[in-house]
Amino acid sequence: SSQMSGEEISHYFMKPMSLMVAACNNMGIRKHLWLTKIGVKYLIHSISGKMNLLLWGRVTWYAHPESTFPLPNALHAVLSNTLTTVPDHAHFLCKDFDDVVRLAGEPPLADLIETIWVIGGAVVYKEALSHPWCDLIYLTHIMANFDCDVFFPDFDREQFILQESFPGVPSGVQEENGIKYKCQVFKKMIGDAV
Ligand SMILES: NC(=O)c1ccc[n+]([C@@H]2O[C@H](COP(=O)([O-])OP(=O)(O)OC[C@H]3O[C@@H](n4cnc5c(N)ncnc54)[C@H](OP(=O)(O)O)[C@@H]3O)[C@@H](O)[C@H]2O)c1
Repeated sequence: SSQMSGEEISHYFMKPMSLMVAACNNMGIRKHLWLTKIGVKYLIHSISGKMNLLLWGRVTWYAHPESTFPLPNALHAVLSNTLTTVPDHAHFLCKDFDDVVRLAGEPPLADLIETIWVIGGAVVYKEALSHPWCDLIYLTHIMANFDCDVFFPDFDREQFILQESFPGVPSGVQEENGIKYKCQVFKKMIGDAV
């Protein structure tokens, strides 16, 4: 079974892991400026409150301008096997998801961190979607057809169920600079089969 052994569980405090993504109609996540603009704005709205660990792929980290940082209520971990030092404005370098689990689930951060937010990109989303801690997908669905060259990975919409409404999440169609979007949350249903 995919259950963690009792020994492993006893070492870590489990943390909720949420994915945050802005995608247009074809589930494209890169190239249009508004994907990033609306995405970052909604991210800041969502992480207000307690401290969060934001998890970035190396490519996504460097795709964001310095002006993005600092973000409120956020510690930043960058995933990479090629970097040897923590990038400017980031706090931690992780070489795999096990590193992330240890970082967020063990002292000293375990007491501080409420949620791990997976910021992308596609490579990191793919692994996060199958991670046992991943229980929510925050998808800002931008109702437009942008030309994109990176896409959000397919996920099982029978396992992750679209919520009709969700605390703290605006419902209905939003609009910014003539661009319409919806803030959707998909919640993982934990059944006997998992
Ligand atoms: N619209 C949105 O919401 C959104 C969100 C995020 C990103 N994006 C876009 O997506 C683009 C990047 O996506 P991407 O898929 O090309 O790259 P990415 O996922 O951001 O970064 C990939 C890199 O991260 C590191 N990495 C990923 N998984 C790892 C793991 N399990 N362990 C260790 N290192 C790991 C590796 O770095 P090393 O090669 O250094 O080992 C890998 O090459 C960005 O340009 C951005 O514009 C859009």
